[in-house]
Amino acid sequence: MPAMAWEYVTAGAGDELTVRWNQEAYQRIRLRPRVLVDVSKLDTRVTLFGQELAFPILLAPTAGQKLLHADGELATARGAAAAGTAMVLSCFSGTSLEDVAAVAKSPLWFQLYVQPDHGFTRELVQRVEAAGYRALCLTVDTPITGARNRETRAAVKLPPMPHLEGFKVDGREGHLHPGSAQVFSGVLDAALSWKDVEWLRSVAKIPLVLKGVMNPDDADRAAKSGVAGVIVSNHGGRNLDTLPATIEALPQVADKVAGRMPVFVDGGIRRGTDVLKALALGASAVFIGRPYLYGLGAAGETGVMQVINILQREFQMAMALTGRTSIASIDRSVIWA
Ligand SMILES: Cc1cc2nc3c(=O)[nH]c(=O)nc-3n(C[C@H](O)[C@H](O)[C@H](O)COP(=O)(O)O)c2cc1C
Repeated sequence: MPAMAWEYVTAGAGDELTVRWNQEAYQRIRLRPRVLVDVSKLDTRVTLFGQELAFPILLAPTAGQKLLHADGELATARGAAAAGTAMVLSCFSGTSLEDVAAVAKSPLWFQLYVQPDHGFTRELVQRVEAAGYRALCLTVDTPITGARNRETRAAVKLPPMPHLEGFKVDGREGHLHPGSAQVFSGVLDAALSWKDVEWLRSVAKIPLVLKGVMNPDDADRAAKSGVAGVIVSNHGGRNLDTLPATIEALPQVADKVAGRMPVFVDGGIRRGTDVLKALALGASAVFIGRPYLYGLGAAGETGVMQVINILQREFQMAMALTGRTSIASIDRSVIWA
C-alpha cells in the first residue's frame, strides 16, 4: 500500500502508547490449560441481536478503505462474507451504504457519527435501515479528534465520503475537503451527550450499540439508558493517548454491566489466544480493525478473508488446548490468575 496509507492505518494519537499497550496487555495475560477434555467437536457459534454468527470475530468500522485498495469497502464486505462474519461499515466509508449492502452476503452493521443537524442524521438512519443493516453503532469516544500527529505529518488525505454529502458545517452546506483533520472537525458533534443517545434510540428501529466506552460508570449509564450493547474501545489508540488497554478495562465494564446487555471489545487483537482471553474476561464477541486492513491492502477481498480465517483457526486451537468446547464454557478460569 502507498506509504501515506500505511501511516494512516498504523498511526495512533500522541506518542502511540495506547496503541502499544492494547497489544502488550494481551501478551501479559497467561492461559490456564485443561487436559483430557474431548475437544473433537467445537461449537464457536454466537447469537448477537438475533443473528447467528459462526464465530465471535467481527470487523470494526474503519474509514476510507479505498486508500488501501481500489475496491475498498466492497472488498471488505465480500471478504467478510467469504469468511462468514459481520462487518460494521464506517460512516466515513468511501463507498455508499447501499452499494455495500448490494454485495454483502453476511450481516452488516452501520457506524454512525451524529451530526448537529438531527434531520440529517435521522435520514441517514432511515437509509441504513432501508438497506437492511442490522444494528447501529454510535461512536461515542470521538466528540473531537485527538492529537493525530503522525497522520498530520504524513498529510493523510481520505478519499471522498459519500455519506457526508449534505452534511452541514456551521449551518451551511459544508465544502468538505478530503483530508481527515478538516473533515473530522467539520462533521463531528462536540456537543454529543446522553440526550442524543436517547433521541437516537427513539428514532432507530434496529439495536443501538455504543462504541468507545472505557469507564464502567458510562457502561452502567448505557445499560440504564436501554441501549442494546457497548463496545469497550479506545478507538485503537487513535484518539486519547495513555488510555489503558481495552482488555484491562473490559473486566471492570463487564462486572458493572452484570449481564444486562452484551459487552464487546476491540483494540490490539492479533491472535486467536487474544480472542479467547477477551471472551474469558467478559466479551460476547470481539472486533478487529488494523489486521483486516493489512489483509485488504495486501490482497483485497482474499486478504480480508484470509486474515479472518487465520484468527478463526487460531481461536479454535486456543479453545481446544484450554479444553473449552463451546463459547459458554469460556469463563475467567481460562486465565492463569
Ligand atoms: C485506519 C482506521 C480507521 C478507523 N476509522 C474508524 C471510523 O471511521 N469509525 C470508528 O468508529 N472507528 C474507526 N476506527 C477504530 C476501529 O473501529 C477500532 O476501534 C480499532 O481499529 C480497533 O483496534 P485495532 O486496530 O487494534 O484492532 C478506525 C481505525 C483505523 C485503524
